[in-house]
Amino acid sequence: MSDDFLRITSGIRGLDDMIEGGYPFPSTLLLAGSTGCGKTTFCMQFLFAGARKGEKGLYITTLSEPTNWMLRFTSRFSFVKREHIGTNISYLDLGPYIKTKFPPEDRVEALKKVIDEKIIECMPQRIVIDPVTSFGGLLKDCYREFVFDLSQSLKSWQAVSILTGESTWDQPYPLEPAYTSDGIILLYNLEHQDGRRRYLEVLKMRGTDHVTGKHAMDISQKGISVQVGFK
Ligand SMILES: Nc1ncnc2c1ncn2[C@@H]1O[C@H](COP(=O)(O)OP(=O)(O)OP(=O)(O)O)[C@@H](O)[C@H]1O
Ligand SMILES: [Mg+2]
Repeated sequence: MSDDFLRITSGIRGLDDMIEGGYPFPSTLLLAGSTGCGKTTFCMQFLFAGARKGEKGLYITTLSEPTNWMLRFTSRFSFVKREHIGTNISYLDLGPYIKTKFPPEDRVEALKKVIDEKIIECMPQRIVIDPVTSFGGLLKDCYREFVFDLSQSLKSWQAVSILTGESTWDQPYPLEPAYTSDGIILLYNLEHQDGRRRYLEVLKMRGTDHVTGKHAMDISQKGISVQVGFK
């Protein structure tokens, strides 16, 4: 069957084969998992895979780390090329816009404005917001509306956007960004009798005949790879 979608590579070995060659372009995706399951690594591979081909990427975080954080965090991975950082891959720290004394409603407006301005400045084909769930405690009652507006407005850009979110013991993915996402990918780090093992699952990918179920995944110096078919 012919594929009506333009697709771009995920940068994750094994994943493109699960989703008919890559993510539909443009689209908004949710990547969810518990702490340490590999969300940031996954997003960095996505951005560097684009940068290698001359695409622009934008990494948006709320962590208030200095800009050289990206280098420090990822310098041990072989897919990281220093020359792309600050050139093909830009960085936006939203920490200062969140930690103001303004009421949450005003912060929402300020955040939307700064994100839009940065996107217009960089014109990225790949956008990451990592983690989007960190806005929850800060924006309180405005969080749901903020995430909805954000994922709607991301759809208007010619880009694939990945929003990351924390899963909890009773909720495999945060519901707010899930409603508006075109795709949901879950990462797991599950306890077995002989230790923990990592898995990746494509829960949904609109317009895509994707492989279902959990598949073994590994994080090494080369980044994340998926062994499709291995449970
Ligand atoms: N070079 C490496 N080789 C193998 N595994 C690594 C390497 N670097 C990191 N890891 C694994 O990846 C995990 C961290 O992944 P990552 O920071 O991407 O997760 P995360 O889901 O973003 O976590 P958080 O919830 O803290 O944001 C580490 O806990 C470690 O187990
Ligand atoms: Mg992370």
